[in-house]
Amino acid sequence: MAQSLRIAQISDTHIGASHEPYNGVDMRGQFQRVIAELARRPLDLLIISGDLALMDGEIEAYDWIKQQLADFPVPYLIMLGNHDRLETAMSVFNLPKEDVHHGEFYFYRQFNECHCLFLDTSSYYLSLNQQQWLQQMVQQIKGDILLFMHHPPTLCACQFMDQHHALRNYQEVWQFFLTLPSIKHIFCGHYHTGCDITVSDKWIHLTPSTMLQIDRVSSELVLDKKIFGWRMIEWTQNQPLKTTVEYLQN
Ligand SMILES: [Fe+2]
Repeated sequence: MAQSLRIAQISDTHIGASHEPYNGVDMRGQFQRVIAELARRPLDLLIISGDLALMDGEIEAYDWIKQQLADFPVPYLIMLGNHDRLETAMSVFNLPKEDVHHGEFYFYRQFNECHCLFLDTSSYYLSLNQQQWLQQMVQQIKGDILLFMHHPPTLCACQFMDQHHALRNYQEVWQFFLTLPSIKHIFCGHYHTGCDITVSDKWIHLTPSTMLQIDRVSSELVLDKKIFGWRMIEWTQNQPLKTTVEYLQN
């Protein structure tokens, strides 16, 4: 029987230190609704792709998220975004020390025959160390690779975010990515939008925020607080990858 892996990706939860809504958004309530929905789904893994905390790695946010996921039916992995802090996240989530390299949190996991790589762009850069590590990993891995990183590795036709919040070394990073043909699916957050775009030979899958969405067309910051969502990823050996974005409404 073909091996498979079912992942839910949530992103940019931006949980604050208090229970109070922020700019009219109840991040904790929305997070709970998303988790309750995902707990009913057939899943193998939950990935939280960065910006767990509202602003600056608030420990109350990490404590609360950990508490909310204590009874979640499948394992979860966290990644760092630019609003997260490694030391605090390590202390709360007991992150493995061997996944921390010179102050950055990046790692590899294998699930069945599916190979997953997780990068750290919390500095707004993809460091040279990580690029070298990625190159080594890609050379070693035989089989399908799913790559997860908080920031998209290049511009994504999202006017406001591309202009103001893109990965700072995206030009160098994208040139490097183009030398890695086995990287075909890149799953990101940070842009607070849900879409799938192709650039050259690769798919970039942007996953919506569980907090609020940012308009892709406007060059001004236009927020959508009515919907919040997540991404489902279904990998089956020797079959095309399936992935969809889903939303709940306020
Ligand atoms: Fe971010």
